[in-house]
Order: sequence, then C-alpha cells, then structure tokens
Amino acid sequence: MSKKVIAGNWKMNMDIPETVKLISGIKEALKNINNGAEAIVCPPFTSLETAYTLLKDSPIGLGAQNMYFEDSGAYTGEISAAMLKSVGCRYVILGHSERRTIFKESDETINKKVKKAHSSGLLPIFCIGETLEEREKGITFDVIRTQLSGGLKDVSPAELEKTIIAYEPVWAIGTGKVATPEQAQEVHAFIRGWIKENYPSVNAKEIVIQYGGSVKPDNAKELLSQPDIDGALVGGACLKADSFAGIISAC
Ligand code: PGA
Repeated sequence: MSKKVIAGNWKMNMDIPETVKLISGIKEALKNINNGAEAIVCPPFTSLETAYTLLKDSPIGLGAQNMYFEDSGAYTGEISAAMLKSVGCRYVILGHSERRTIFKESDETINKKVKKAHSSGLLPIFCIGETLEEREKGITFDVIRTQLSGGLKDVSPAELEKTIIAYEPVWAIGTGKVATPEQAQEVHAFIRGWIKENYPSVNAKEIVIQYGGSVKPDNAKELLSQPDIDGALVGGACLKADSFAGIISAC
C-alpha cells in the first residue's frame, strides 16, 4: 500500500499574514508526527511565494488550486503551469467541483489542464465526484467513469502514475455531511478497478486515491483505514493547524 497523502485545499482563504501564521502553526504541529504520511498545502496564488519561502526546508509539499492550460499570452486573470513551477509548486488541484460548477469547467478543459500539468512537471490532484442528485438517481458510477475517461483522456501510464485522484462527493463538500467509510470505499474500489481495466501496465495499488468532503480529525481515522482510501483532500479543517495536523496524525 502506498503511503497516505493529506492535502489541504485552502480555497479562497488566507491573506499573507494569515498564511505566515497558518504555515508556521502547521510546521510546529507536524514536528511531533512521524507516521510517514505526506502533507501538502494548497494556498491561494497570492500566498504561494510566501508559503514556498516558509516551507523550503520542510517536507511539506506545496500545491496550487488551479492553473490554465496555455503557456502564456492574452488570458487575463489566468496562471500558467510554468508560473506555478517558478514559485515552487509541485502539485496542482485540477477539476475541483467548485471549478466544475461555479466556473463551468468541462471534462475536456480539465483534461487539457491535466496534460499540461504533466508536460510541465507538476503533479495533478485530479478531482472527481457525483452530486446528490446523481447519487440519488443511482448513476454515481456512470458519472465517475465519465469524469475519469474524460479528464484522463490520452494521459499515458507513466503520467497516471504521477497523478493523485481525489474522490469528492459534491454533497459532502463543505456540508459537514461526510460519506460513510463504506460509501467512500465503494467508489474508491470502483476507481481502482477502472485504473486496472484502462491502465493494465500500471500497478493500480500504487495510485493514490484521496477522499474529500467534510474530513475532520474525528472522522479521518475510520475513512483512512479503508483499503482503497490512500489519503484525504481537506477543505474547512485544513484552515486550522491543529485540525490539519489531527487529520495527518490519524493516518
Ligand atoms: P471540505 O472541502 O473538507 O470543506 O468539505 C473539501 C474540498 O473541497 O476539497
């Protein structure tokens, strides 16, 4: 089994002083946790350089929350993969449900971003997940299959090995309504099966599949002990050093 990977998605939170405080708190809190779990923080663009400077000599990884798939040019308001690399990012969250819903990102757009991240040497944290309506209609697996095949279209086996997949049921994000460990495990096993089927040369067990959606220190242990849950993508609970560290110590 691969080691657990816990990523914190700060979303549109934290200015520079708050970033300094949170990163310092996380570094301090993680000092005493040595369980081999990997921690990644994904602050907003404006805090990346500050975060990079504070994290330089620490094992905590740095990621962004989005990027554009073009290299440069007239794309007002966008950020390229090379720009993220230049501020020290190793990871980038792509296809988060908030990007899909609020900013209307399609599987095709997300696929372009995933491919650009790989060709630029960034490791994507590729998010997928069904809405409540889709779950109630009984089409969760169809939705997941479509998002996997669309978002990972033409992604090579070597690139897939460098992709983190985050399963985030939309109904569990920011709602406090966490998926039961059984509900999450069922979809994680489906994703692992899809990898086996579509990437026979890849050791599916080695691909990190994170769960995301209302993960907190008190529910993390049960979720993370499921056989196909290799980590967590954490929103709300990553904005406090103690609760982020609490999730990491649950690994
Ligand atoms: P949440 O967010 O932990 O606040 O539910 C998770 C996410 O959106 O990645």
